[in-house]
Amino acid sequence: MVNTEVTIGKLTLKNPVMTASGTFGYGEEYSEFVDLSRLGALVVKGISLKPMEGNPPPRISETPCGMLNAIGLQNIGLKKFINEKLPFIKGFDTCLIVNILGRTIDEYVRLSTELEASGLSAIELNVSCPNVKSGGIEFGTSQKALGRLTRKVRKAFKGTLIVKLSPKVSDIREFARLSEAEGADAISLINTVPAMAINIKTRMPVLSNVTGGLSGPAIKPIALRMVWEVASAVKIPIIGMGGIMNASDAIEFILAGATGVAVGTSNFRNPASVIEIIDGIESYMRENGIKHIKELIRGIIC
Ligand SMILES: Cc1cc2nc3c(=O)[nH]c(=O)nc-3n(C[C@H](O)[C@H](O)[C@H](O)COP(=O)(O)O)c2cc1C
Repeated sequence: MVNTEVTIGKLTLKNPVMTASGTFGYGEEYSEFVDLSRLGALVVKGISLKPMEGNPPPRISETPCGMLNAIGLQNIGLKKFINEKLPFIKGFDTCLIVNILGRTIDEYVRLSTELEASGLSAIELNVSCPNVKSGGIEFGTSQKALGRLTRKVRKAFKGTLIVKLSPKVSDIREFARLSEAEGADAISLINTVPAMAINIKTRMPVLSNVTGGLSGPAIKPIALRMVWEVASAVKIPIIGMGGIMNASDAIEFILAGATGVAVGTSNFRNPASVIEIIDGIESYMRENGIKHIKELIRGIIC
């Protein structure tokens, strides 16, 4: 038996594998294909105070090595999430992390306190969505705004606080250090990379929003480099994501310094990929005589 248990803030995960926010709905959508109790953690789609319609279609497009999306954070809003989705998810034996998004600091604070009041013990601050006009990315690209936001949410929320960083900055280590200093329990990275595609027949952008976020294998080397950089800058756990399609990708992130890994785009191609990645990490550990996953974290030799 290999031990794959990891600790992130106050959470103990049975294995390091999670779903990346926005790519696995509220869990329900995938529960026919995947035993949600096997997941290290379920990270649900970003929630805002009020429901959001998102951007008009087309808002997803396939690229040669990943996908481009500008969903614009469509979601059912906090109230519906708590009343209609939470009871179903609570029936599974997995950690739950709720990704939240606000336009103002007050909105993030309200979201976190109301979630805590409903028994939620872990939140991930999405400060890095490139596809909305206000909020989101503004917090992720200004150190002053990110510092203030993290401090205020930290004061209001006792549970596990994860800050999800944007790759759209010149030095991601500074944003990670700041999040740690203001009380974050963990850092997750990376969100999608701003990108675009053009239809040469119509000469129009492929996405209605013109630009979107690139995810999948195309961004993996960027994400991996950023996880490695952040691992040398902070002591708190890192949740690595960006192009993880199989167990080998996940192990690379863990060797680079990630305590947890999240799987996003891969879910669209193969709904069972999260489970295959969990199994694959276990097989790798058995084959290489690794008894505890901790032996792999930051295990890169360079
Ligand atoms: C369709 C789609 C929706 C997403 N929605 C969110 C979201 O609501 N909140 C968030 O923090 N990240 C969101 N993301 C970003 C992912 O969680 C993840 O950071 C990114 O896709 C990189 O991982 P991947 O290459 O494995 O997909 C979304 C990504 C996609 C593709």
